[in-house]
Amino acid sequence: MQRQPEPELMNDQIQVQAYAEADFNEGDAHLVDLVMSMLSSEFQQRSDHCIVDLGCGPGNIALRLASQFDQARIVGIDGSAPMIQRAREKAGQGDSRFDFRVLRLQDCLDRGPCSDLQHRADVVISNSLLHHLHEPELLWRVTRHLAAPGCLTLHRDLRRPCSMANAHQLQQRHLPDAPDVLIRDFLASLVAAFTAEEVKQQLQQCGLPSLSVEEEGDRYLVVSGLVD
Ligand SMILES: C[S@@+](CC[C@H](N)C(=O)[O-])C[C@H]1O[C@@H](n2cnc3c(N)ncnc32)[C@H](O)[C@@H]1O
Repeated sequence: MQRQPEPELMNDQIQVQAYAEADFNEGDAHLVDLVMSMLSSEFQQRSDHCIVDLGCGPGNIALRLASQFDQARIVGIDGSAPMIQRAREKAGQGDSRFDFRVLRLQDCLDRGPCSDLQHRADVVISNSLLHHLHEPELLWRVTRHLAAPGCLTLHRDLRRPCSMANAHQLQQRHLPDAPDVLIRDFLASLVAAFTAEEVKQQLQQCGLPSLSVEEEGDRYLVVSGLVD
């Protein structure tokens, strides 16, 4: 099935509300478990980590990571102001560990507003971001731009099924009773997602060929590894 991109940013209030209120606990917890399983015990004992969550949305994963690293600096980046507003509300005002920024990935390179983070991040993650990007190389360029030497990076996203019929089967299996707006977004996301082969080519072209690309279950991809 040919890829059909969807809009990059999730700015629509109804879409943001449906997304922020949906139950993604299982997938979010799984992503954090994956990150934790890849970090060395020496790394976990340090207290000064800088963790960046790209396309952080309403901040659920950033908050989970904060509960694992109580002194880490957690930077969440998303181009959608309503998503970042949700994330800030969830984090609460008094917690100085969080730094949520309304920023598009396109603005994170060079001398942009992320220059304070250049080569400073110990962990760079994203969840369900890659399929939104019209220029997917941006995710890999920003990851390289922010990564400190030896940074762990992990990106989890949907992968594109072979046909629309297959996409509908996945929706029936995993989201049979969700609100209409979530069903619509899920189907659009599957069609906009990349295959493992396409992601491997992106990584080759962007100088990250050592990252591994694994298919997970019936609909996910996990890209992970250390950035030199
Ligand atoms: C499906 S949501 C995932 C949110 C969060 N990572 C999660 O798992 O709950 C994708 C997010 O990526 C953001 N996004 C998409 N394209 C972006 C871009 N070019 N720059 C910054 N954020 C982007 C959207 O606004 C949206 O909040």
